Amino acid sequence: MGKKILWVILAIIVVIQFIRPSKNVSEVPSENDIRVHYAVPSNVLAILKRSCYDCHSNNTNYPWYTNIQPVGWWLNNHIEEGKDELNFSEFATYSTKKAAHKLEEVAELVEENEMPLESYTLMHGDAVLSADEKEMLINWANDLRKSIKQNM
Ligand code: HEC
Repeated sequence: MGKKILWVILAIIVVIQFIRPSKNVSEVPSENDIRVHYAVPSNVLAILKRSCYDCHSNNTNYPWYTNIQPVGWWLNNHIEEGKDELNFSEFATYSTKKAAHKLEEVAELVEENEMPLESYTLMHGDAVLSADEKEMLINWANDLRKSIKQNM
């Protein structure tokens, strides 16, 4: 009896390996990337790419374990949800009002250590922001928001 259940569980684990979410990787650079409309200094861009782009852009760097289900499904959910809220690859399509609001959220969530997600930094230690990097990101988001608001 116990053995039978183990076989069933094993079979399920094997079968779900074949159900893979499609990957969030685009071949061409987005024409609506945030940099098309707004100034992003290279040091800020480096931080965004390292700590945010896996979930907030059209290009995710997939670690090997995303090929193991259900880890990949779980990650895919985060990417879908994260992109839905904020996508730097589509940022230029946002209205000025929405862009300003998203930048306000960026400053706020980084300040409160809510982004990048803790479940992510557990596996991606390199995505943890230093105090200096946090300050840089927050200042950039605040300055850009103010300049957008001035032109609204
Ligand atoms: C592992 C995936 C992941 C990473 C990495 C990540 N985020 Fe998020 N982010 C999410 C998800 C999922 C949501 C939506 C649910 C929530 O708010 O928790 C979100 C929501 C947000 C929002 C809220 C948008 C709104 O309008 O409410 C902002 C702003 C944000 N993230 C900024 C960032 C920044 C800045 C970074 C990098 C420093 C970052 N995120 C890194 C997954 C991620």
